[in-house]
Amino acid sequence: MKIETDITRLLGIDLPIIQAGMSWASSCSSLPLEVSHAGGLGVIAAGPMRPADLVRTIHEVRAGTTRPFAVNLPLYRQGADEILDILEAERVPIIVASQGGPKRYLDRFKKIGTTCLHVVAGEEHARKAVDAGVDGLVVVGGEAGGHPPAELVSTLVVVRAVVKALGGRAPVIASGGFVDGAGLAAALALGAGAANFGTRFIATPESSVDAAYKEAVLMARIGDTRTIGRGIGMIRMLSNPFAERMLALEEAGASLEKRKAVFGASTLKMAAFGDIEAGKIEAGQSAGLIDDLMPAGQLVHRIAEEYLATIRRLPAISKR
Ligand SMILES: Cc1cc2nc3c(=O)[nH]c(=O)nc-3n(C[C@H](O)[C@H](O)[C@H](O)COP(=O)(O)O)c2cc1C
Repeated sequence: MKIETDITRLLGIDLPIIQAGMSWASSCSSLPLEVSHAGGLGVIAAGPMRPADLVRTIHEVRAGTTRPFAVNLPLYRQGADEILDILEAERVPIIVASQGGPKRYLDRFKKIGTTCLHVVAGEEHARKAVDAGVDGLVVVGGEAGGHPPAELVSTLVVVRAVVKALGGRAPVIASGGFVDGAGLAAALALGAGAANFGTRFIATPESSVDAAYKEAVLMARIGDTRTIGRGIGMIRMLSNPFAERMLALEEAGASLEKRKAVFGASTLKMAAFGDIEAGKIEAGQSAGLIDDLMPAGQLVHRIAEEYLATIRRLPAISKR
């Protein structure tokens, strides 16, 4: 099956279904490999990976599929330059850079033909990234798991704003809140060329977080996420005793020092390894729309089928 858009043409993939880079959850070969093999784009999250593990993971994906895949790099991570060296040496086909400016990596990767996608959360950064020469953008809205934009502007609004601001100068991937084919149809209707699915892919056997994390995603309702850590690296996560404690401190006007100490004592890694009481269970509002654990390749195909069913319904609606 093929669904062609500006993004599928740019990336050389069959379906406009991107598996979002997610620290720990996609810091492995199993998930990206299955997604790419099924015709979407699998993304290895290099954020928390040791250099040697990243190299091994890239080789594993290459051994399992000839399809394109990407590596996501948050530019603020410690040792980001060493990771950039690895991505260059490995001739990774696509990179998705976040949390920093594109000038730091663009020239060297353009020279070797790497497709460079950059994550943004508003029109101004979108324009700057396109002026700098990126090939495409991932536009993240406030629903998203992980680090949503500071003002929490919704995906519906920010994607439309960026598409309008760019006037077709670069293709866009919409991110935040997508779980199924209806969402994909909505993303394309807004003018994006693909949707980025994060939390949805946590609930697959191939994602590399503990079963308790996956269960928490499956059990969540749409109002169960919290945004915590304003001003110190805000995240969206599922409610748990740690999140409620952070919120209580924020509401009580606790000092920045105190809030930083509590925020820093909990990590995504803790939740990824099963401590869902004290860890950061990063997830989007979309968790409330997910109620089955499904192999990643099957999920890609189901989203594509749902998309086709959605767009088949639309002409009938307009004729009524
Ligand atoms: C557990 C988790 C970890 C994430 N880690 C990263 C990361 O390392 N780099 C990054 O650019 N975005 C990261 N994100 C954000 C995702 O790439 C994506 O923008 C977000 O998941 C989209 O929203 P959704 O979860 O509703 O699909 C993470 C998201 C989650 C849920």
